[in-house]
Formats: sequence, structure tokens, C-alpha cells
Amino acid sequence: MKSSMQQLDDIKFYDAHPGTGDLRREVIDGLANSPKMIPPKFFYDRRGSELFDAICETPEYYQTRTEMDILRNCVDDLVDHIGPDCLLVELGSGASKKVRLLLEQLRPSSYMAVDISKEFLLSSTQTLASDYPWLDVHAACVDFSHNLTIPHCDTYDHKVTFFPGSSIGNFDPDDAVDLIRRIAQMMDMNGHLLIGVDLKKDISILNAAYNDDAGVTAEFNLNLLKRIRDELDSEIDPDTFEHAAFYNSNRGRIEMHLVSCQAQRIRIDDRFFEFDAGETIHTENSYKYTIDEFAQLAAAAGFEQQRVWTDEASLFSVQLLKTV
Ligand code: TRP
Repeated sequence: MKSSMQQLDDIKFYDAHPGTGDLRREVIDGLANSPKMIPPKFFYDRRGSELFDAICETPEYYQTRTEMDILRNCVDDLVDHIGPDCLLVELGSGASKKVRLLLEQLRPSSYMAVDISKEFLLSSTQTLASDYPWLDVHAACVDFSHNLTIPHCDTYDHKVTFFPGSSIGNFDPDDAVDLIRRIAQMMDMNGHLLIGVDLKKDISILNAAYNDDAGVTAEFNLNLLKRIRDELDSEIDPDTFEHAAFYNSNRGRIEMHLVSCQAQRIRIDDRFFEFDAGETIHTENSYKYTIDEFAQLAAAAGFEQQRVWTDEASLFSVQLLKTV
């Protein structure tokens, strides 16, 4: 479908009508795969999105609060580097909460929120626009992992892309380079990327972050199986699976899996899938980088690190990259 632009009360809204994926087809394909896997995009139904927000609040999940502290502390320095009046594009803007830490001081002339979830995008940007009446607010409903054509960009000389949350870690490194290269192209090879990158660290801290005591991350992971049970014609008992998340040092990533506690056969439509006891469905990766490793990844995509801010314990980094 063609992208369309609408002037809503106080925001300009563009809709590229991204598909949210076909749960049935992609689950069947993923389970036919060896090893079995399901794409992480299916985590985010309404319940999944609530659980994700709750993960960010758990004591073990240091990323969100650490990134917010770093942003609070680096904003003056950031303003010195990029100056006022840019177009600030945020990828995966969600509730547009973190960007609020930047707006007052950075004073961009426009803010473009990009997210796949239309209702959430509209409500968050409308609230933002009423809280920041001086700001020209745009919203683009786009699946940026597939398509980075962001409307309206060419009228700005100075573009800054904001990509927080270490979402880059959820892409395999080759795909991460590819995405960052497309960000450079979207900015006409001239602009800044402000990106949150989770760092390599003590393995026990990493493992704890994805295995919180209250079991929120487990429930988030298992919610995928509840969706399959409730939304597809299937026979599957989520209680026969367990959440597993662990740091794979060789690959430098946290892996999330759903482990079958028993040998069993599940059904979706007329397809059957056999599980050995202990066999897993791989649901997500979260890659961790050293500052140097990420500099190399950025360089492969046409960016250089201009500034890197971290917290005192070097758990997390916020990096200002510049196109070269
Ligand atoms: N990108 C963040 C991370 O990898 C947030 C995230 C994405 C996440 N999927 C997740 C956190 C699944 C916990 C579980 O940490």
C-alpha cells in the first residue's frame, strides 16, 4: 500500500502500512526449522508489550535506567557536538519517553517518531506534542527493519537519528551493519547517530538481567506460546515449556529459548512438531559489544565514533556516531 500523510491535531502522521507478520505462517516455518525458532517480533501483542515495559523496571534489568542516567548526564556535551535545530528521528520510539531527556536542551526543530505500532505511536506523539508545544512533531508508522524510507527527511540539512535501548543488539552483527548503513543512507550520508549499546561485562550480571527473580522475562518469553495456543488452531500447553536465557560467550550474545520439559508433539493446523525433552525454540538474541567492537561495526557501516558515554560501572554505553 502507498504511504500517505495526514495532518492530525498537532502532529503530521505518515503511514507506510507495515505488515505485522503472519503469526501462523512464520510459526509453522520456524518450527519446521532445525534448530526450531520463532521470530521475536511476535512477542509484542498487548500483553507482551506490557510485560516488556515491566522487564525494564525489574531490579536485574540495568539497561533502561542506566541508559536514562547516561542520557541525563551527557546531554550538555551532546548539545555541544550537534547544536540546535536538527531533525531528530527516533527509531522504535514506543512511548517516546527517553527522548524527553534530550528535547529541552537539544531543541531540535523537528522530531520524527518511527514505530511499527500505529495506535501506540499516535497516542505517544500526540501527548508529546501537547507537552512540547514549540516542537514540530511527526510520526511515521514504518517497519524500519525492512524499510527505512522516512518521509520529509530531505528538507533538513542536519539529521540526527536516535536509536536507544540497545535494540541494535537484537540484530545479528551482519544485519546490524546493514541497518546502520541504511540509517546513513536515510541521512544522505551526512548526520549523526545517537545509539544505545549494551556492553560486554561480568556474565553473572548479564544472565541475571534476562532471568529476573520475579519471573517477568520468563512470562514475556512464554507469552509467545500462549499466543500460539489462543490465536491459532493448535494443541500446545505452555506449561510444558520453560524460559531459558544465558550468555553464549563464543557468540557474545544472550540467547533466549523456550525449553520443552518433556518429549512431546504439538499441533498447529494439520502440522505436527516433535520435541525431545530439553529441545528448545530459539526466540531472541541480544548481542553485547566492547566499545572497540562496536567502533568496528560502525566503521563497516560508514560511521565513526565521535563520543562514547558510559556509566561508572561501564555496564552500558550511549554512543554518538558521525557519518564519514
Ligand atoms: N534490546 C534490549 C535487550 O536486548 C531489550 C529487549 C529486547 C529485551 N528483547 C528482549 C529484554 C527480551 C529482555 C528480553 O536487552
